[in-house]
Amino acid sequence: MITNYFSETTKTMKSSLIRELVATTKNVPDLISFAGGFPSPATFPTEILSKLFQEVVFQQGRDVLQYGNSEGDDQLKEEILKWENYPNLNRNNLIITVGATNAIYYMSRTLLNEGDIVLCEAPSFLGSIVAFEAVGAEVHCVSMDNEGIDLNRLAEKVKRLRDADKKIKFLYTIPDFQNPTGITMSYKRRYKLLKYCEAEDILIMEDNPYSRLNFSEEEQPTLLRIAQTELNNPYLVTEIVSFSKILGPGMRVAYAIGAPELINKMVSWQQKVTISPDCTTERVVAKFLAEGYMEPHIKNLCKFYKPYLDKMLACLSAEMPVYVQWTKPKGGIFIWLWLPEDINADTLFYKAKDHLVTFIPGSKFYPEGQERFNCMRLNYTYSTMEQIETGIKRLGELIKSIYV
Ligand SMILES: Cc1ncc(COP(=O)(O)O)c(C=O)c1O
Repeated sequence: MITNYFSETTKTMKSSLIRELVATTKNVPDLISFAGGFPSPATFPTEILSKLFQEVVFQQGRDVLQYGNSEGDDQLKEEILKWENYPNLNRNNLIITVGATNAIYYMSRTLLNEGDIVLCEAPSFLGSIVAFEAVGAEVHCVSMDNEGIDLNRLAEKVKRLRDADKKIKFLYTIPDFQNPTGITMSYKRRYKLLKYCEAEDILIMEDNPYSRLNFSEEEQPTLLRIAQTELNNPYLVTEIVSFSKILGPGMRVAYAIGAPELINKMVSWQQKVTISPDCTTERVVAKFLAEGYMEPHIKNLCKFYKPYLDKMLACLSAEMPVYVQWTKPKGGIFIWLWLPEDINADTLFYKAKDHLVTFIPGSKFYPEGQERFNCMRLNYTYSTMEQIETGIKRLGELIKSIYV
């Protein structure tokens, strides 16, 4: 049996629970799904991208069809540095990767030993939790309130882990329109979290795929920006930014910004695993930025998505019983629902399928053994207005029918 040859790591590797769950709902006619995390294909800038791909291959084909730099394309790096406008940062602070997923993996590979601790928000993005676990780390989550991670609970957890002689390497956070809750960390919480981690010698991995999908006037500086400009600390935060929700996840372009020593080691991992990101796509994204397409595109994206978010929030208000609570994000792609303690959303998932509506049960966003079951994640960017109206009505009716 070929499976007998698998490494110990492979044998214990978990398959994607979310993908498995979503697969069970495929081919159910008339099912309305709020489960996935997909951006709307209607937002992909197909015309501009097809023009840019054509131009890049025609004009620069001899360059971009060659093997590229493991640290990423210099032209794209220059454009990102201009776009981000961080004072004091240069190309050595930057690696381009194949999606944020790879940046998360390379940073984990660079920092984590078997048994090291990664702290994260509860709930958090499952893809990252399994990446940390895949390199042997233990993941411990800390609950959140409407302003982000709970700092008192964080301090308690850190003390308990250190008393047990555990080595805490970094804290993983998604401060803007978090996946799965949609919560954005307040400025005050960001500042206090940074000061706390600095004092406690805990690095921060800031995952930022959603901050540009901001439908409000309010904007928080990233943790990296506060660390760089206010705390003067160039090592504390590594920020990972993805173009997946802006240009399309099929582009697979993202980047990490951090201390050159760390970025360098991430480049070594990228060199081993994939040699370089896709050079043509990198150059296309560079041109997208250089030719001024990015800002108007992001404005259009926000204009496109906001009515869908408003619609789902309005439908929840109209259809949900008073004992259901949900977050009210002003951007991103997710809303989080809290149900009464005795409703288990894992069980509800199967009943909901019969009612032709689906979501991701909240328990899937916690490390194993630390789950909460009375919660769920809803996505609003992949449905029509009619589907949002009908789907939330179905969900509300189902919840009312099982809990009076
Ligand atoms: C918080 C978070 N991080 C990372 C990713 C993965 O992004 P990418 O497509 O750039 O690999 C996602 C995708 O949904 C996400 O929600």
